[in-house]
Amino acid sequence: MVLDNKLGITESAELAREEEKISKKKALELFESGVLNSLEAGKFESLSQIHKYLFDEIYDFAGEVRNINIAKGNFRFAPVMYLKQSLEHIDNMPQSTYEEIIEKYVEMNAAHPFREGNGRSTRIWLDLILKKELGKVVNWSKVDKEDYLLAMERSPIKDIEIKELLKHALTSDIDNRDVYMKGIDASYCYEGYFAYKTSELK
Ligand SMILES: Nc1ncnc2c1ncn2[C@@H]1O[C@H](COP(=O)(O)OP(=O)(O)O)[C@@H](O)[C@H]1O
Ligand SMILES: [Mg+2]
Repeated sequence: MVLDNKLGITESAELAREEEKISKKKALELFESGVLNSLEAGKFESLSQIHKYLFDEIYDFAGEVRNINIAKGNFRFAPVMYLKQSLEHIDNMPQSTYEEIIEKYVEMNAAHPFREGNGRSTRIWLDLILKKELGKVVNWSKVDKEDYLLAMERSPIKDIEIKELLKHALTSDIDNRDVYMKGIDASYCYEGYFAYKTSELK
């Protein structure tokens, strides 16, 4: 099944490819234009603006809270019925230490407010909090993708793994565009991986 999209694409590998290309271009623009730095760190509103910026050319739902329930692996993200409440709670979570910031990130990942594109937009959102609060960002090129996914899958139960993993990848090189762009790789999710695999098998 292919998500409805503004590009009129009906084939999943093609959508994955185009989506990655466009969202990367938009992510770079978001960074270079200074728009990202102007957003308030740690609020759902800023995450929504990031998501809208990245995906507005692709999906009608860019920046909009999803209206269907979704799951990945064995994990069901926040039910639509409690999503708004959950986002309000997350807005008010503290973010003055590294631990608090990761706890907030883990909660936002569990909320998974959008139909698609949560991983990429929420990693940018996380970096914005780390940058404004601690003067650091994650150097995503130092984070093994498989380790990251395992840690995220584990995070609703225990956040020690994601805390450890990202702690070792922190850098003060906060205005480095290559460091920033690494976090936007779509291949931090299995879907993207399978989409590419399927296309290779054909
Ligand atoms: N089983 C899981 N439990 C919790 N979080 C998960 C799980 N699987 C994936 N994730 C998180 O969801 C993200 C993928 O969400 P998705 O909306 O597809 O975003 P994107 O399209 O930007 O990759 C991953 O990067 C990871 O952070
Ligand atoms: Mg995805």
